[in-house]
Amino acid sequence: MRVGTSFLALLALLPLLLFLPFSSAQSRALDAILQDCAFKAFFRPKTGVSYDGKVPKTLTGIKVAAMRLRSGSLRTRGVERYKEFQIPIGVVEQPYVERLVLVYHNLGNWSENFYPLPGYSYLAPVLGLMSYSGANLSASDLPELYLRASDRPILIKFPHVKPAPQGSVPKCVYFDLHGAVQFDVLLHGNVCSTVQQGHFSIVVESNAPTPAPASAAAAGFNKRGGRKKYKVWIIVACLIGGCFLLILLSLFVAKVRSAKQGMKIQQLEWAAESNEPLQMASIGGTKAPLAIGTRTRPTIENDYIP
Ligand SMILES: *[C@@H]1O[C@H](CO)[C@@H](O)[C@H](O)[C@H]1NC(C)=O
Ligand SMILES: *[C@@H]1O[C@H](CO)[C@@H](O)[C@H](O)[C@H]1NC(C)=O
Repeated sequence: MRVGTSFLALLALLPLLLFLPFSSAQSRALDAILQDCAFKAFFRPKTGVSYDGKVPKTLTGIKVAAMRLRSGSLRTRGVERYKEFQIPIGVVEQPYVERLVLVYHNLGNWSENFYPLPGYSYLAPVLGLMSYSGANLSASDLPELYLRASDRPILIKFPHVKPAPQGSVPKCVYFDLHGAVQFDVLLHGNVCSTVQQGHFSIVVESNAPTPAPASAAAAGFNKRGGRKKYKVWIIVACLIGGCFLLILLSLFVAKVRSAKQGMKIQQLEWAAESNEPLQMASIGGTKAPLAIGTRTRPTIENDYIP
């Protein structure tokens, strides 16, 4: 029975589990769209030069750029400045390609939509650094290459950071390609560091005291609070759905049980009705009722002897 209950509990959690990776899948889809937009920015690209791409109208507010590099040049020289990113020497990609393209994302006012982080507020837009093979610049749906900084970390300097509410400590946040979230200390000068590619921003815990509602920053926070409430409602809805599913399943299990019991009772009644206990016989390891011969012999009514 213990196995049964934990299985049911797992089933009840299913809607929640389905809900959580949803935003990750959404941001992966965005990565693919932005890769396509960034590659379209190339027209006879020079290596080591950043080209700004165009995003579809439905994603207005997001910025994207692309830079093509020789893998050897990335490793031995790095990129001193690529938008907010500073790439030191010693960065290698995996698997190896001769030429690669670094794609830059600035999610702007879409940051929270694609990287929702309950309990936190963004102080800066989510920035992304991705890398793809540069072998075919008209290719789409390319798999990402894995970048790794082996010598010094890649630095991200955020130029426009909203002031943190009093008493709260801003943190760097890092999202990897699988949707995992990590927090890190914010370095002096609004700088975050990483040894991998992914998406980055600066956040504060949003239960910290907010400044006076008159300031523009506070207005932003209030709007976020509204969205957070909406998210909380979704989670609550999922929980209720889970409970409902659990109740439904328990009812089903109970019904199956009572049906089985009903069958047993019927069998007993049937056995009781046939007033004469049947002899039991063993047939190949199972016991079965056995009737020996016929109980009332048939008699011929008219003695007719030919
Ligand atoms: C972001 O801002 C642009 C205008 O600059 C707007 O068209 C877009 O709908 C906004 N996106 C979100 C998610 O608010
Ligand atoms: C590049 O990719 C496009 C689109 O996937 C494809 O049609 C084309 O054949 C590819 N070119 C090369 C040289 O592989």
